[in-house]
Amino acid sequence: MERLEEIRAKMGECDDKIIDQLVIRMGYVQEIIEYKKKTGIPIIQPEQEKKQTDALKKKLGDNEFEEEILNIFEYIVKNSRKIQAKSLFDYNIFLVGFMGSGKSAVAAGLKEKLEMEQVEMDELIVKRQGMSITEIFAEYGEDYFRNLESNILIELQKKSQAIVSCGGGIVMRDENTDHMKKHGRVVLLTAKPETIYNRVKDSKDRPILNDHMTVEFIEELMNKRKARYEAVADVTISTDGKSVVEICEEIITRLIALDNM
Ligand code: S3P
Repeated sequence: MERLEEIRAKMGECDDKIIDQLVIRMGYVQEIIEYKKKTGIPIIQPEQEKKQTDALKKKLGDNEFEEEILNIFEYIVKNSRKIQAKSLFDYNIFLVGFMGSGKSAVAAGLKEKLEMEQVEMDELIVKRQGMSITEIFAEYGEDYFRNLESNILIELQKKSQAIVSCGGGIVMRDENTDHMKKHGRVVLLTAKPETIYNRVKDSKDRPILNDHMTVEFIEELMNKRKARYEAVADVTISTDGKSVVEICEEIITRLIALDNM
């Protein structure tokens, strides 16, 4: 029994050392982010993360705990991204834009890179109502759906660092745009009508387009909403021909520039 307590005490000493080193390491993470902000070099550097993992593997050689230690380091890196995001964005990021402009894909990309919470408004509505969006529109009408959207935005007041992927029509109500402006930064994603058409043409869950799946209809509706989108946007990013990683990097750079103004 005494031996057990002795070993536990020794383990406690290891924990103290690990904590001390983690605190120092996290301080370096903060220094790096300040440096990146100041010099304007890209925040997301996948090649650097890969280099770091390779170096770790080399250091570990054929250590008997290689798998477990690499697993711990994955968490360390994840948490470094969290620290990075906290220092970069102490507000919600609302992604708005026409259907198929890439809001969900970009929100997922930002979530992965920044370890911020991701909220998918449409998904949340579908889950809560236990019905698809097409079913909600058919059974209760568009106004009902719009009320659900507005209520979710009110609920989101509690959050301070989330990436919110909004439904394409969210900008059509003043109360929604006022809310987004007050509780975060608004990023508008745009794409040409042809690009949108190609992205959404096989989707059956966009009731507004279901019977009008043409480039012309998309362009017409886009033009009707254009001014509303532009009025609420803090930052506008065109997504045509760009990868999700490129779009995420552009959003981060543009938001940092805006915050530094
Ligand atoms: C809508 C966009 C959809 C969804 C609903 C209505 C719109 O969201 O909220 O079908 O009015 O533009 P996505 O933009 O995510 O497709």
